[in-house]
Order: sequence, then structure tokens, then C-alpha cells
Amino acid sequence: NVPDVGIDAMALSVPRGYVDLAELAEARGVPPSKYLSGLGTRQMTIAAPDEDPVTLAVNAARRLFERSGANPAEIGLCIVGTETAVDHSKPVAAFVHGLLGLPSACRMFEAKHACFGGTAGLLSAVDWIASGSARGRAALVVCTDIARYPLRSAGEPTQGAGAVALLVREKPRLLSLEVGQTGTFARDVHDFWRPLHHKEALVDGHYSVQCYLDALEGAYDAWRRLDGAADEPLVRTCYHVPYGKMARKAHRHRRMLEGATEQAADASFGVEVEPSLDLPSRIGNVYTGSLYLALASLLNAQAREIAGKRIGLFSYGSGCCAEFFAGRTTPEAAALVDRLDIDGPLRDSQRMTVAEYERLRAEDAAADRRTAPESARPRGKANEWDRAVYLGVD
Ligand code: CAA
Repeated sequence: NVPDVGIDAMALSVPRGYVDLAELAEARGVPPSKYLSGLGTRQMTIAAPDEDPVTLAVNAARRLFERSGANPAEIGLCIVGTETAVDHSKPVAAFVHGLLGLPSACRMFEAKHACFGGTAGLLSAVDWIASGSARGRAALVVCTDIARYPLRSAGEPTQGAGAVALLVREKPRLLSLEVGQTGTFARDVHDFWRPLHHKEALVDGHYSVQCYLDALEGAYDAWRRLDGAADEPLVRTCYHVPYGKMARKAHRHRRMLEGATEQAADASFGVEVEPSLDLPSRIGNVYTGSLYLALASLLNAQAREIAGKRIGLFSYGSGCCAEFFAGRTTPEAAALVDRLDIDGPLRDSQRMTVAEYERLRAEDAAADRRTAPESARPRGKANEWDRAVYLGVD
């Protein structure tokens, strides 16, 4: 007697500006094909100073209520997943709660675990509802992040910014999740981190790819061992998408674990994964929201075609924790997707030149130098030391 709980509606919010990655490649002296096909990226959104994680989260949540017809008064749990926190203590969820006027009888908190924070929020919300604690109320889960790496670093073309708001409730209209049926993997690794007061992430890039694949293997294996999990095929799978090529690598790895050849695994990619990559390739990495951006992309493109079908979801957060789970799209999803106008926020996007993007970053760094207290300023030597200790190099 498992309750029917899942994602009832979803909405996005993105910054106004984006950089075209072919133009960035030229500016960096790299063949554009490396970013376009080597990494599978096309554009990355860039947040201006007035587009912080709170603003992005609130805009996505407002749009969610407006478009889905849901009432903020129904919310009894509000979780914000982010790795771009604005305070060590006060959660982004508190700002969202206040700006949306959510009920005072509402539990709210922020969930942090790199890109896994949104999934930690979603699965907690599902369990809260399935346990009976919700007493008929719904949960709001918002994933909001600004993915930033140093200019001219290997990570630079894999930036992005945005928020995805999810309404979680019983008898969901988009996707019923298989409650309690998740495969989890955790391991303490130093693949990616963002020390306090750093806006830019530090990453051991190639190692992070390996950690992602190891975690996928662990989580998928745990999921497949669950009673009934592997009985019915998954017609599509959405992965965490730091850049499109990573989803391709993940799918190949997963299919080969099942015994497929590399050619067969790659052949299934176009049908099973590609429809989920349109929005990620136009927005970039949005960390906590990345898997849900992939899901939004899939529903936007194929909600009718996959109505009533089972799909897989894989979430990875560096550091690391990963979870593989599944759900079933509902017959009414397609009609709701039309109303939600999921990719609407991208319609007004404006292309920014590389020079404009670099100016924005320089101004932001200058503002931080002016306003940060001495104790909050990154200390060059100390950070080099931190990095060496983390990576185990001299
Ligand atoms: N034309 C076509 N393809 C080309 C090319 C060209 N001219 N030049 C290179 N390529 C291909 C390469 O062959 C390679 O393909 P494969 O991965 O299939 O081998 C691909 O382009 C990338 O090339 P490199 O490996 O040389 O790229 P890089 O070292 O410059 O950077 C990266 C890649 C390490 C992923 C870097 O972008 C990075 O550090 N990104 C941030 C970290 C990240 O996203 N990690 C992902 C896993 S961790 C995670 O998922 C959490 C998260 O959100 C951060």
C-alpha cells in the first residue's frame, strides 16, 4: 500500500544573459568543436549582480505557483538545495518563505551536499508526505545555484546559473516516484569543493568524472538489487548533467554494466538520453538543479510520447553522494507541461559577448574586494596550501 507521491509541477528561472560557447572557445584559443562536441555544451547562462541564488529561487517558485495553479497556502515544507549559500546560518529557504508569503506552519531549511542537495530535498519531501507527516499538505523544493570556475580554467565552459522549483505532493500530475525504492552510494572524496568565501569552485576535473562514474556504478547496482526494480525497462534516463558529454559517458557506463557493448550503449543514447539534454546545453551546469533541468527538458520535449512510461533518474553530488531512482510519467503530464511553459524563461535571453562577461566578473571581484571583511578574504598562500592538502600534492 505505497502512497502515490511525486513531482506535481515544475518551473525554471534563469539569468537574462548567456555566453555562446563557440565564441568563448575562440576567445580562449580552443577549437570550438572541443566545447560543442567534446563537452557537449552550447551556451552558459551568466548571473548578473541582481541575479543571486535567492532571486533565482524566488522567481522559479513564483512562476511555479502562477503556472501550476497551486496555492502557496498548501505548503507545509520548504527546502532549498544549494551550494551557493548566502549565509552560514540563515537558509535561502527563509528568504523564499518570506518573499512568497508561505504559511507560518511550515518546516523550512537549506540542504547542502554539492549538486546532490536538491535531490536530498526532493527525497526528504517525498518521505515526509509518504510518512503521513504532511497531513494533506504539499512541499516546495527549490534547487538554486550559480556554477562558477576561474576564467580560463578547464571548468570555465561548464558554468551556468539557474533555479528549478518543484512542487511535491500526493497524486502528482507530472511524475509519480517509486517511494522507498532508491539506490544510494556515498564516499568521502576530494573531487570538487568550494572553500568558505570562495565564489569559484576548486575542482580536480578528471578525477571528478571518475568519482561520478564510480558513484553511478554503486548507486545503480544498489538500485538494481531492490525487489522489482529491474523488472520493467526504463524508457528514458535523466542524469546529472555538468555538461552534456558527462551524461553520455554515464549512460554508456550504466549500459555496459548491464552487459551492453559500447556500440549498443551509444546507440541507445539518442533515444534514451538525448531529449533530456536540450535545456542543459542552453543553460549550462546549474549544480543542484541539473538533474531536474534534464527532467524538465525531457518532459518539455516528449511528455506525450512517454505518458505512463517508467523513467530513471540519477543524481550525483561531489564529495560524494549519489542516488538512482525511478518514476512514472502521468497521462495528464503533457497537458500540464503545455500550461507550465517550462522553457518560457529562456525566451527573453540575451547573448552577452565574451568581453561583457569578463567585465561582469572583473566588476564582481572588485566589489568583493571592497566589501569583504579582512577575515573573509581568500588568503593566497593558505588556499594554495588547502588545495595541496586536499589533492595530496606538494
Ligand atoms: N574536438 C572535439 N572534441 C575534443 C576536441 C576537439 N578539438 N578537443 C578535445 N576534445 C574532447 C576530448 O577528447 C574529451 O572527450 P572525452 O571526455 O570523451 O575523452 C573532451 O573533449 C574534453 O576534453 P578534455 O578532457 O581535454 O577537457 P578538459 O581537461 O579541458 O576539461 C573537464 C574537462 C575536466 C570536465 C573540465 O571541464 C572540468 O573540470 N569541469 C568541471 C568539473 C566537472 O564538471 N566534473 C564533472 C563530474 S563532477 C560533477 O558532475 C559535479 C558537478 O556538477 C561539478
